[in-house]
Amino acid sequence: MCGIVGYIGPKPVVPVILEGLRRLEYRGYDSAGIALAGSASGLTVHRASGKLRNLEALVADKPMAGNYGIGHTRWATHGRPTEENAHPHRDCTGSLVVVHNGIVENYLALKKELVAVGHIFVTETDTEIIAHLIEQEFLDAKSVEQLSLEEAVRRSVRKLKGAFAIGVLSADDPSKLVAARSGPPAVIGFGKDEYFLASDIPGILHHTRDIVYLQDGDIAVLTTSGVVFTDFDGNTISRLPQHIQWDPIQAEKEGYRHFMLKEIHEQPRAIRDTMLGRVSLTTGKVELPDLKLTVDELRRAQRVAIASCGTSWHAGLAAKFMIERLARLPVEVDYASEFRYRDPILGATDMGLLISQSGETADTIAAQLEMISKSTPTLAICNVVGAAITRKAFGTITTNAGPEIGVASTKAFTAQLTALFILALYLAQCRDTITQEESLKLVTELDKLPAKAREVLRSTAPVCQELAKIFSNARDFLFLGRGIHYPIALEGALKLKEISYIHAEGYPAGEMKHGPNALIDENLPVVCIATRDENNPDSVLKYEKTLSNLQEVTARNGRVIAIACEGDTEISRLVEHTIYIPSAPELLLPILEVIPLQLLAYSIAVERGCDVDQPRNLAKSVTVE
Ligand code: AGP
Ligand code: GLU
Repeated sequence: MCGIVGYIGPKPVVPVILEGLRRLEYRGYDSAGIALAGSASGLTVHRASGKLRNLEALVADKPMAGNYGIGHTRWATHGRPTEENAHPHRDCTGSLVVVHNGIVENYLALKKELVAVGHIFVTETDTEIIAHLIEQEFLDAKSVEQLSLEEAVRRSVRKLKGAFAIGVLSADDPSKLVAARSGPPAVIGFGKDEYFLASDIPGILHHTRDIVYLQDGDIAVLTTSGVVFTDFDGNTISRLPQHIQWDPIQAEKEGYRHFMLKEIHEQPRAIRDTMLGRVSLTTGKVELPDLKLTVDELRRAQRVAIASCGTSWHAGLAAKFMIERLARLPVEVDYASEFRYRDPILGATDMGLLISQSGETADTIAAQLEMISKSTPTLAICNVVGAAITRKAFGTITTNAGPEIGVASTKAFTAQLTALFILALYLAQCRDTITQEESLKLVTELDKLPAKAREVLRSTAPVCQELAKIFSNARDFLFLGRGIHYPIALEGALKLKEISYIHAEGYPAGEMKHGPNALIDENLPVVCIATRDENNPDSVLKYEKTLSNLQEVTARNGRVIAIACEGDTEISRLVEHTIYIPSAPELLLPILEVIPLQLLAYSIAVERGCDVDQPRNLAKSVTVE
């Protein structure tokens, strides 16, 4: 998400920052801004919505004074992508600015406190809170001590919850740039008598290859004479630069071979960022203020109609299980491209739900218009703030996966599943179909998912590489699953089709005997999702039935790759290959089980020499019907 570039040194600062931001464009953004310090007139700030060229035109038109500064390209999470919401953000006096990558989870509570002591907020962002928080630290300390900028930043960041990488400048403590990190990446570059801050290496790689990766809990103070590192308590720490060998293209992918692989590995963070600020780990309560429908309206809802395409449609199919199980509300799921051609029966007491990574998919927009024409209020689950679908929707849940560049959707999907689970839980809480104890249990399990996803990435990537070597010449693949695992089988098949060009189909495990069994022979790899939630008898029952279906496949010499939960030794006796993942409550298992399927598709595509990030005949955003 977003780009940050800061510079202090002898070069003209504006070109260093603008060029750096340009080199970070691949990260995605919707607006941009720059602040300079070091001139007699204090800080100057320019911001523009849209592309960087708008900011460049502004800077050309109104030249800026100053010899060090920070710039930012914003990927909106809180507030529309307007000029006002673009970073840098100021405090009340305008003598201090902040750029931020991430999400401040407790910004509403902090804002309330700051408004109560007189701070005036002018943007919709969570970031602005940080500028006022630092300002307040100076005000609180005024009569007692002389505070340095870094000390004020330290005291402020200790109050923040959530994820942040920030850069701060103050006209009152000149020739200094302060950075802090807790979550999103940030790097410090060391040149000759010059120092850089960036959210990612490509932003500064053309100036220096000597880089320190800030660790969570680090503060860096950049001056013309060097960089000092401390922790959030002010204790000095040692961070030695490493020399980076990557070329600029490798650097954009953070050393991964493809964007898709990088995005697969970003999933623990995408899941975490989608949860941030929405679930309470102490009460189990869900807060979704951007949904805009009242609890009463949600209670009255008769039915949910979901429309989406491709991977987002698979998320919709999984959501049906989540919403029906938790909130006892009937759900229909349609391909968005089919929706309006069946003259759907809908009304004002139904709820339309559009799921889309891009928010610009023409078929999904058409389905949304059909819903609106029938007076059905629509909600959007979308990864891009301000995208077309969110502008037409009554309420939105942003998925916060960050920009997705690989055409094959990966982190947006797991973020969608996370958002949909949270929505299902929220509906259940509004409709009193879940106890507080059950909610808290589920939220606690949800909170464990990022760590479990990290574990799945670590343990299954090498297994998938090995399997790719064995199966990359297969002509067809089958993917099987039962219940909520069936949509994940469909997603596994779609991933493989898209990037390896191998024909693949997803089937409900129980449907095999009604036809597809005829396909099975020793050449057909069958990937079967056979996970189970040991604490849920219903899930164990489904697992046992799936095992019987698997036996039908192995009896016909089909080559089975099973996705199973750790500790399940029974299955590995039955099938040729088993990929293990940690267990979780049944409705959360899909988020973990899709990861090895993504890795398998990826490894097979690489093995076959396919263009993983740009598969033939496909576009990232499908804006035609
Ligand atoms: C997924 O890997 C695809 N490339 C595609 O199916 C995609 O999910 C679909 O086009 C929907 O896009 P959206 O989520 O941006 O609406
Ligand atoms: N949450 C902040 C905002 O919406 C920062 C977004 C970003 O990382 O670009 O402005």
